[in-house]
Amino acid sequence: MEKLVVWQSPPLSGEVRVSGAKNAVLPILAATLLTDDPCTIEDAPDLRDVSTMMDLMEALGVKVERSGSTLRTRPTGQAGSEAPYDIVRTMRASITVLGPLLAKRGEATVSFPGGCTIGPRPVDIHIRGLRALGADIQVEEGYIVARSPKLRGNRLFLGGPFGSTVTGTANVLMAAVLAEGRTIIESAACEPEVVDLARFLVRMGARIRGVGSPRLEVEGVARLHGTTHRVIPDRIEAGTFLAAGAATGGEVTVRGIAPGMLTAAVEALREIGVKVEEGADYVRVSPNGGLRPTQVVTLPYPGFPTDLQAQFMALLCVSQGISVVTEKIYPERFVHVAELLRLRAQILREGPSAIVVGVPWLSGAPVMASDLRASAALVIAGLVARGRTDVKRVYHLDRGYERIEDKLRALGARIERQDDPEAP
Ligand code: EPZ
Repeated sequence: MEKLVVWQSPPLSGEVRVSGAKNAVLPILAATLLTDDPCTIEDAPDLRDVSTMMDLMEALGVKVERSGSTLRTRPTGQAGSEAPYDIVRTMRASITVLGPLLAKRGEATVSFPGGCTIGPRPVDIHIRGLRALGADIQVEEGYIVARSPKLRGNRLFLGGPFGSTVTGTANVLMAAVLAEGRTIIESAACEPEVVDLARFLVRMGARIRGVGSPRLEVEGVARLHGTTHRVIPDRIEAGTFLAAGAATGGEVTVRGIAPGMLTAAVEALREIGVKVEEGADYVRVSPNGGLRPTQVVTLPYPGFPTDLQAQFMALLCVSQGISVVTEKIYPERFVHVAELLRLRAQILREGPSAIVVGVPWLSGAPVMASDLRASAALVIAGLVARGRTDVKRVYHLDRGYERIEDKLRALGARIERQDDPEAP
C-alpha cells in the first residue's frame, strides 16, 4: 500500500496539461459494446478506473488494447453479458454497460453497485428509464437482470430528487440509439462528459438531437459502426490544479481545457479573490491579495460540480472569513471534513452544509483518504499545512488522477509517493 507525503510547499507556479476525462472515457468504452466494429479512443487517461473498465469489457467480449493514451477496442466474439460483482463493487461506473448490453444483445446481468463513501447512490432512475424503453428488469441475488428482445422508443423523464443523473442519462441514451423508433429523454444530464459520449455515438452513426440540452431526441438505428474519437479534457482534474494553485498563493496555468467547461468554478475562484485569466485552451490563476470567504452550492452542470466541492473546501479552510459549502447532489459528501479537522481546519457540519471558518495556518498530520476527490482535497491542504502531511490509502487518488504527484512536483510542490508500512 502506498501513501503520498506532502510537505508545506512554496506557491505553485508554472503550467500543467490536463489528461483526458475519466468520466467521459468510461461510458465511451461501454458504448463500444454497441458495435461489432473496432473503435479507437484517443487521449484516454491511464487510470486505475480505466484499467478496471478494460477488464470488464474483456469479460463482456470486447478486447481493449492500450498504446500510450490511445485505446483500441475489438469484439472477440466471446460475448458474455454479465458484469460481475467483483468488478462493479470496485467501480460504480461499470453500471454503464447495462444500457448498451441490453440494446445490442437483448440481455444484461449487472451487479447492483454497492454502497459508496460519498453517500447513497441508487440506480432507480436508470432502471425506470430502461423499463420505459420496454425492458423487463428484475433484481435477483444482488444483480440487475435485464431482458428485452427489442427495445422500443418512448418519451421518458430522467429527473430525480437531486436533478438529472449523469450515468443514468448515459445508460438510457446508449439503449435508445438502437431502440426501434423515437425516444425523447426529458431532464437529461448536460455534463460535458455526457455530451462527449453523445458525440461518440453520433460518430458511430447514431441519430441524436439536442446534445448538450436537457431534452434529447433519439431516432433508433439498426446498427452502429466503428469510429475514432478523442476524449475531452478532464475539467475536474483542471479544477483541482486551479484550487491547489490558489490555496498556495501561486500562479498556475492549466492547459488543454476549454474555459467554458469550468464556468462555475472560475466564478467561485474570482469570488474568493483569485485573479483568473482564460484563453482558448487554458485557465490561469494568480494571487490578487488575500483569500476571501464565499458560498459554494453544488448543482448539476453547468452549476458548481460536486466533484470539486472537497478541493474548494480545502482552499476555503485558509481563506480570511466564514464560508458555507452546501451539497445539493450528495448531501452526505463530507467524509473529508474529519480529516481536514485533523489538519487544524475549523469546519462545522449542519445538514447538507459545512460552515468553514478560515484559519491563518494548517498543521500537517497523517490523514486517511476515503474517496477520490476527498483525497485530492487532503493533498491540497497538505501543500499549505505547516510541516508534513501523510495522505494514506492513495489508491483512491489513482482512480482518477494520472501521475498527480509528478504534475504537482513540476509546479514546485514538495510531494512524493512512498510505501506505507503502517497500512493494514
Ligand atoms: C457521475 O456519477 C460521476 N461519475 C460522479 O463523479 C459525479 O459525482 C456525479 O456524476 C455527479 O456529477 C461518473 O461519471 C463515472 P448521478 P453518477 O447519477 O452518474 C441521485 C468522481 O469523483 N440518483 O448524476 O453516479 C444520486 O444518488 C465521481 O469522478 C438517484 O437518486 O451520479 C445523486 O444524489 C464521484 N437515482 C444524484 O442523483 C438514480 O438512479 C446524481 O447522481 C441515479 C442517481
